[in-house]
This record gives sequence, C-alpha cells and structure tokens, in this order.
Amino acid sequence: MVQWLSATSSAPRRVGPADDRTTADDALRRIRAGESLLYGGDFQNARQLLAALGRRLTPRPPKGAPPAEAFRRERHRRREAHLLLNRLLVPVAAGWRIPLPRAPDVAEALAAALGPGPEGDGMLPLRELLGAVGAHQWRKGGVPVPALGARVHPHHGVFAPVRGEYAELIGAALAGRDLAGKLVFDVGTGTGVLAFLAARRGARVIATDSEPRAVACARENAGRLGLAGQVEVREADLFPEGQADLVLCNPPWIPADAHTPLERAVYDPGGRFLSRFVEGLAGHLAPGGEGWLVLSDLAERLGLREPGALEASFAAAGLRRVEARTAPAVHPRSKEQEDPLHEARAGEVTTLHVLRTA
Ligand SMILES: C[S@@+](CC[C@H](N)C(=O)[O-])C[C@H]1O[C@@H](n2cnc3c(N)ncnc32)[C@H](O)[C@@H]1O
Repeated sequence: MVQWLSATSSAPRRVGPADDRTTADDALRRIRAGESLLYGGDFQNARQLLAALGRRLTPRPPKGAPPAEAFRRERHRRREAHLLLNRLLVPVAAGWRIPLPRAPDVAEALAAALGPGPEGDGMLPLRELLGAVGAHQWRKGGVPVPALGARVHPHHGVFAPVRGEYAELIGAALAGRDLAGKLVFDVGTGTGVLAFLAARRGARVIATDSEPRAVACARENAGRLGLAGQVEVREADLFPEGQADLVLCNPPWIPADAHTPLERAVYDPGGRFLSRFVEGLAGHLAPGGEGWLVLSDLAERLGLREPGALEASFAAAGLRRVEARTAPAVHPRSKEQEDPLHEARAGEVTTLHVLRTA
C-alpha cells in the first residue's frame, strides 16, 4: 500500500497518473473533478505544472476592493489553492527520496518537517514538499530578532517572528526592568521569542503552546540560547496552572477560520483564543501582576471585529488597561503593493495593551 505522508491534507480519494505530457488545462479539469494526480515524469516539469495550475485558479481580488470584500475573496482563493493544488502529488521512496528525474535531494528538509520517512512507497503533495524545503532554509539559517540580539530558528509550521513590531514593542517595554525572582507566562509561545526576551531580563518563564511542533521548536531554541534552565515549555491550551507576575501573549490575530492546522498561529476561529485569554487573564495574575497582550488592529480594519469591542471585553473580564504602546506596521507584507489587502495592512497598528486587574 502506498503511504499518505501529508501533515496538512487528508488522503486522496482517487489517484490517477500524470506526466510530462499532461497539460495544465487537463490537470485542472481532473483535480476540479476530485482526482489527485500522481506525477511520474520530470520533477522540474511537475513544478512548472503546479505553477501553471496556480495561475489558473480564481484571480486575486481587484485592487481597490473594499477591505472586507478583499479579505473574503482572498480567503476563498487560498482555500481553493489549498484544496486543489495539493492534489498534485509526487512519489516518495524510503529515506525521503523522490524517485523522479531531476528531483533535488530533499531528505533533510522532509525529515525535519515530517519526521522519519516511509519504509516503502509513499506520496506527498508537491506543494507541501516545496513548503517544507523553504521552511527548512529558515530553520537552518534562523530569523534575526533585533530585540533579542539573536536569531531564533522556526521549525516547519511554527510562527516565525518576521513581523518585528510586536517583539520590538515587548523588548522596549522590558528594557531596564529587572525580572529576577519573577515568574512570567508566555501563552502561545511559537518559537519562544517572547519567553526569551523575558528570560534575558532574569525571569523564570513557563511558556505554553497547543501545537507540539511549536513546543519542540521553543525547547530547541531555548537550548541554543542557553536559556533552557530558565524557560520551561509545556504543551497546553492557553495558560499553565497558577499565577504569574507577568503574562505575555501575542495571539493569532485574525478572527476567521483556519484552513489548516498550520494556520492556527494566525487565524483565530470565532475569536475564541482571544476571548478565552481575556476572560482567563485576571485569574492567572499574581497580586500586582500585569498581562501584556500584543495585538494588531487588522481585524477592525477588515470589519472582523467592532471598534471598541476589545476594550469592552477587558472591562467585562475585570481588567483595566493601564498603558497602551503602539507601533505602525513595518513588516514586509505591509509594503506589498500587489497584496489585495494592502490598504488595510499599510495602515495597520500593533498595540501592546498593559492590563491589570480592575
Ligand atoms: C501569533 S503566534 C505567536 C507566537 C509567538 N508568541 C511569537 O510572538 O512569535 C500564536 C501562537 O499561539 C499558538 N496557539 C494557538 N492556539 C493556542 C491555544 N489554544 N493554546 C496555546 N497556544 C495556542 C499557536 O500555535 C502559535 O504558536
């Protein structure tokens, strides 16, 4: 039996052959009809076929579309891309070898992303393979975090701190503070970047994440930075037990459905992470403790959250905001003129909300 190796797509119901003679139009017709195509030709031609299929899907929303409409259409387009493009498959042999002419050596990248390879024959969406190869470059090279004065190494599927605004906001707010003897929670730690900023100021940190990949990643990064003795990483839903002097959180910031488990770092279905965090925060603050929530206002700009609703939720949860520090968007996507959400992203503001019990 051929093993299904994907971590993000469900196993195909129907698989047919494709090769260097398969045209993009024919392939699109077949994948739209529910068939998955197992490529048997040249690997580089398979890549070209994937790119040609991508160009044939729903076009991007037109420039100038209202932000809420642009967001809705862009999410639809991405969902379609996820469902349809992941139906172009490549064979995988033992040791993560791709038995196709001109296939690169991807064994190290696939082992890092997906674990031990198949013992016999397997198959994998080509798109997922290419994503794993890209992610592996980041994992090896790391992402510089100026606020930390170091690099963190994101694993495949773990949120990479490429949006510098929030780490800078937290770093600036921590500057000059001595957290020796203090306990800090970092809720939804990802690579561990915020936990490390607090640990560097002397704190003992308990960092949580619900994704096992993130837990493994944060532990590895803590070790690389020599902070493993100070930062304990736990797999957990939101808060660890107990109360802390400081609770840090950079939550998924867009209240919309996540199409894949990997999207749960960015998309917060029903806004539930955020509402549960706000409702649970007061119960996890030690006397005199503070919660530091970093959040962009993209949701308000896209019409996904009513202006003022966040502040109202603080009050309803028995919290008062004692300080708000803001930063304009400087992350690379905010500069992308071709992005259909450019208008909303260009004006995006990230706020560090400093919260105490009322
Ligand atoms: C925007 S990322 C932030 C990651 C990291 N703190 C940073 O600032 O780079 C949100 C993180 O929350 C995690 N997450 C999502 N739902 C969670 C839950 N219910 N409990 C704990 N962590 C969760 C995601 O896996 C992701 O790592």
